[in-house]
Amino acid sequence: MARILVKGGHRLDGEVRISGAKNAVLPMLMASLLTDKPCFLHNVPHLKDVTTTIELLAQMGAEIALGDRLGIHINTRPVSHLKAPYDLVKTMRASILVLGPLLARFGEARVSLPGGCAIGARPVNLHIKGLEQLGAEVDVDNGYIVARARQLKGARVVMDTVTVTGTENIMMAACLARGTTVIENAAQEPEVVDLAECLKTMGATIEGAGTNTVTIQGRDSLEGFDYSVLPDRIETGTFLVAAAMTGGRVHVHRAASHSLEAVIEKLRETGARIETGPDWIRLDMEGRRPEAVNVTTAPYPGFPTDMQAQFMALNTVARGTGVIRETIFENRFQHAVEMQRLGADIRLQGNTAVITGVEALKGAPLMATDLRASAGLVLAGLVARGETVIDRVYHIDRGYENIEEKLRQLGADIRRLPAVEAA
Ligand code: EPZ
Repeated sequence: MARILVKGGHRLDGEVRISGAKNAVLPMLMASLLTDKPCFLHNVPHLKDVTTTIELLAQMGAEIALGDRLGIHINTRPVSHLKAPYDLVKTMRASILVLGPLLARFGEARVSLPGGCAIGARPVNLHIKGLEQLGAEVDVDNGYIVARARQLKGARVVMDTVTVTGTENIMMAACLARGTTVIENAAQEPEVVDLAECLKTMGATIEGAGTNTVTIQGRDSLEGFDYSVLPDRIETGTFLVAAAMTGGRVHVHRAASHSLEAVIEKLRETGARIETGPDWIRLDMEGRRPEAVNVTTAPYPGFPTDMQAQFMALNTVARGTGVIRETIFENRFQHAVEMQRLGADIRLQGNTAVITGVEALKGAPLMATDLRASAGLVLAGLVARGETVIDRVYHIDRGYENIEEKLRQLGADIRRLPAVEAA
């Protein structure tokens, strides 16, 4: 398996350009199933999850061509195989996002249950419940969700828990339902808003995206889209934390500064000086050691759970003690055990981690367990003395485009090691 070698101790200083958002491009690729007209996406990040989604759509029969400059052409007119198989779904849970569009356009879908993952059980019961409220008949058979609906009908859907992809699945299905759908307790993430904007260019009528109540007027059919993916706010936040931890500075281009208020506020609490523009963010730590901060994750506009591991890494070398509470997923502290191998002082108590900053971490071999945990381990390696080797970095390739190249541009000593033949 591929590994990453980091030699710590370098202060980051430079500029970096942010790629398109993973958690926006995935639902948009699935939204192409809602129309038989050609669709075109710009600013598509080169990520494993995008490749997996292209493979999934192609298996269904879609025609997909890579355009110029990060563009993708998708034509789902030929789609006839209405199935998302286990071998693909188990590598990418977001495959569940084909369920709503397939049901809405074709009236049926067979989607493998995603199964658990490293950070939690991550059930999809609210996706199923919402689609049933739109009139779908859903069974679970032999590990597959089997759904049918002659014609979805608009309904009022109250989500018991705020769910990002649950909101997106129902919103996409509702675009072709007969009548009006109101989603209460909807997710407000910027990626949900960007998906709604993309659906509107297809002719969908959607109001309230970005608030907790989204109203969709169903249509008989939708046009194609020609849309550009918004910048990845989690990639942006990851580079800002990397600069802050190393006492350095970074100018982030094509950064969605308006969707990172909670993260920017926390970084200012660590002592970082931050300026923001319409599509850029400049952070300067002026050589200072960060102050420890307290973080509680929450649905947007609260502090994003996808930035939790990165702030744990920052707290391991900060001045003072920081408390991190993870309220979204039940098992999202696996990076803590790995950081302890570097000498971090982290005490875990249920969904709470108490981190007391140490003068210095010491490099060691580590194991990545999930996408954002891997990012946290890379950041810890940037400040650890000596060498840190992170194994199973396929996790990181799912959500970060060329992360070591971008960090090298900022002055990090980081490179990818060839996979070691299994002993
Ligand atoms: C999305 O996952 C993101 N993925 C995740 O990013 C992100 O961490 C998460 O939202 C929270 O912000 C994509 O957008 C592709 P949820 P999602 O449904 O939609 C529970 C990353 O690193 N729940 O909002 O799967 C669930 O167990 C990834 O980029 C149910 O109980 O998350 C969790 O506790 C990781 N039943 C909570 O809701 C359901 O039917 C929030 O999960 C659905 C969710």
